[in-house]
Amino acid sequence: MCGIIGYFGKRNAAEILVDGLRRMEYRGYDSAGIACLNDGRIGLVKNAGKIKGLRERVDASEQAELLHATLGLGHTRWATHGAPNEINAHPHLDASGHFVMAHNGIIENYKSIKEGLAKHGIKCVSETDSEALVQLIAYCYNGNLEKAVSEALKKVKGTYGIVVMTDHEPGKLVAARCGSPIVIGIGNNETVVASDASAIIPHTRDALYLEDYDMAVITADGVQMFDLQHAPVSRDVTEMDWDSDAAEKGDYAHFMLKEIFEQPDAIRNAIRGRLDFDMGTSILSGLDFSPRDAAQIGRVLVVGCGTSMNAGMVGEYAIEEMAGIPAEVEQAAEFRYRNPIVTPHDLVVAISQSGETADTLAAVREAKHKGAVVAGLCNVVGSTIARETGRGVYLHAGPEIGVASTKAFTCQVAVMLMMALKLGRGRRMTRHEGEKISRWIERLPELIEKVLAQDETIKAVAQKYADHENAFFIGRGYLYPVALEGALKLKEISYIHAEGYHAAELKHGPIALLSENTPVVALLNNIPGKEKSIGNAEECKARKAPVIAVVSEGDEAAAEGFNDMIVVPDCPPCIAPIPTVVALQLLSYHIAAARGCEIDQPRNLAKSVTVE
Ligand code: G6P
Repeated sequence: MCGIIGYFGKRNAAEILVDGLRRMEYRGYDSAGIACLNDGRIGLVKNAGKIKGLRERVDASEQAELLHATLGLGHTRWATHGAPNEINAHPHLDASGHFVMAHNGIIENYKSIKEGLAKHGIKCVSETDSEALVQLIAYCYNGNLEKAVSEALKKVKGTYGIVVMTDHEPGKLVAARCGSPIVIGIGNNETVVASDASAIIPHTRDALYLEDYDMAVITADGVQMFDLQHAPVSRDVTEMDWDSDAAEKGDYAHFMLKEIFEQPDAIRNAIRGRLDFDMGTSILSGLDFSPRDAAQIGRVLVVGCGTSMNAGMVGEYAIEEMAGIPAEVEQAAEFRYRNPIVTPHDLVVAISQSGETADTLAAVREAKHKGAVVAGLCNVVGSTIARETGRGVYLHAGPEIGVASTKAFTCQVAVMLMMALKLGRGRRMTRHEGEKISRWIERLPELIEKVLAQDETIKAVAQKYADHENAFFIGRGYLYPVALEGALKLKEISYIHAEGYHAAELKHGPIALLSENTPVVALLNNIPGKEKSIGNAEECKARKAPVIAVVSEGDEAAAEGFNDMIVVPDCPPCIAPIPTVVALQLLSYHIAAARGCEIDQPRNLAKSVTVE
C-alpha cells in the first residue's frame, strides 16, 4: 500500500524517481510526489491523481533542484488519513522546509504527536498522520539526521517504512522500517531504496532487505545499517530473481490481460522440478517435513485475505481429500483477533501474493506465538511473511502488477495441490493415485491454453452482459471457491455488484434478488454435484435470470436451455478450479473493458494492503 522510492547516485534523480513510482503505481495511485536535493536546496513537486500527471508537472518544472539533482525521494499514495489532494500527498516537508520525508504505514499516535508539537509552535498543514513524523524528526534534529530519525521513531506507535533527507546534510538519505517493507538496491555507484522490488530491478538485482527497527544510512560511501539504538546491524545482500521486462506491459492493453495470458508459463515455473512422477508426489524443499513429521500434523489452518483466501479454500478441500487431514481456511484478521485455538500439531499456512498483507502477517505472528508450525506461501521473494515464516513455498509466478490478482491465484492453487499431494502421499494416498494427480498438475499449462484460445468467444459473452449492475456466481465442491473468486474479480474491476454463492445456498435468501437483470454464472463442470448445480441453475432460469453456463468439454449438453455457454477442459475436480477461474478472469476483464473501467488500477483498491 503506497510506494516509496529514494535515489542517490550520479544520474538524474527526478527521472529515476518518477519511473520508479510508475512501476509501483499499483500500490496506490490517488496522488504522488517527488522531492530532490541539489546545491543544498530541496525542490518538491506533488500532484493529486496518477503518476502521469506527476510526470507532466515534473517535465514542466523549471526548478533547478529537480532538473539537476542526483539525490531525491518520492511517493505514490493510497489515502488513509486525509483526502487524496496535493496537500496530503507525500513527500511531506517539515515547517522549516529543511526536512522532507515519504512514509508508508500508519502513525497511530499522530494526534498526540501533533498536539505535543503544537505546544512548541509547530503546526501541521496536512490531515495526514505522516506529516507528524517529519515534523517530529525535524524537532529532534541536532546535527545528525539518523540520530533525529531514531529519536523520533522511538516515540512512534504504529507502522512505517520511511525515506527522509535534509538540506542540512545534502549527501545523505535515511530509510527505516517497522511493518512496511523497505528494500535497498545496491547498484554501481548508486543506491535505490524502495518499498517494492519492482522499482529496483531496472537498476540492480543486488538487494538488502531491512528488518523491523532497522535503519539504513545511504551516503556516497555506501549503505550503513543500524538499529534504533545505533548499534550496527548487518544484513546479507541477496539477488532478486525477477527481470525488469516481466514488470512491463508490452503489447497488452493492460497488465491484467498480460498476466491472464502469462498463466501457462507462470504455472510451469511454479511446478518446475517439484513433481516426482515415480513416487507420485511433490518435492517442496521449503516444506521440509519428514514423513514422520507430516504424520504428526493434526490439522491444517490456511489464513489469507481476498483472492489468496479463495485459493486457500481450494487448498482446504484438496488437503482433506488427498491427505485426510482436517483443514480449515480462515480470513486472516478474523483468525488473529478471535483468539483461535492452535495446538503444536497444527500446521498454519499463510497464503499471500505480496507477502506483506498486514492481517496475514499478524495471523502468522499469532500462530507462531501459539506454538504452531507456520509455513508461508508467497510470491514475492524476501517478503516479510516469507522471511518470518522461515519455511514455505514460493510461487515463482513473476511480478503481478494488475491490482486484481490472476496468475498468483492459479499458482497458489497449483502449489496448494502439490502441498496436498505431498501430505497425502505421506499418509493414505497410493503411489498410483499420486502419479495420476501429478500428471494432471503437469498438464495445467495446456488446460489453461485451451481456455485462453476461447478469448474471443468469452469476450462476446461478456459484451452481452456488460450493462448489468448485479450478478451472481454459483458453484459447489471445488467450484465453490471459484464462484467466490469469479465474483470478486468482477466486482473489483467492473464495479458490478457481484456475489459468489454456494449453488445450494442461493435459495436461502439471495434468490429473492433474481430477475431478468441479474445474470447468474453457473459453474456446471463435470464434477460430482453437477446434476444438483444444474438444478440450481434451472431455479435461477425459472426466476427469469439469464444463466451463463460454464461446462466441461464433451458435456455441452449440461448447458442446454441456458442463455450462454463457456466450455472449459474436462478434468478431475481438484484440477477444475484452475482452467475454470481463467475463463472467469477473461469474462470479468472483457466486461470491465466494455464498461471503460480502469482495469489495472480500480478505484479505492491497492495491490498490497499493509494496513489492518
Ligand atoms: C488486496 C489485493 C487482492 C489480494 C489481497 C491479498 O486486497 O487487491 O488482489 O488478493 O490484497 O493480498 P496478498 O498479497 O496477501 O495475496
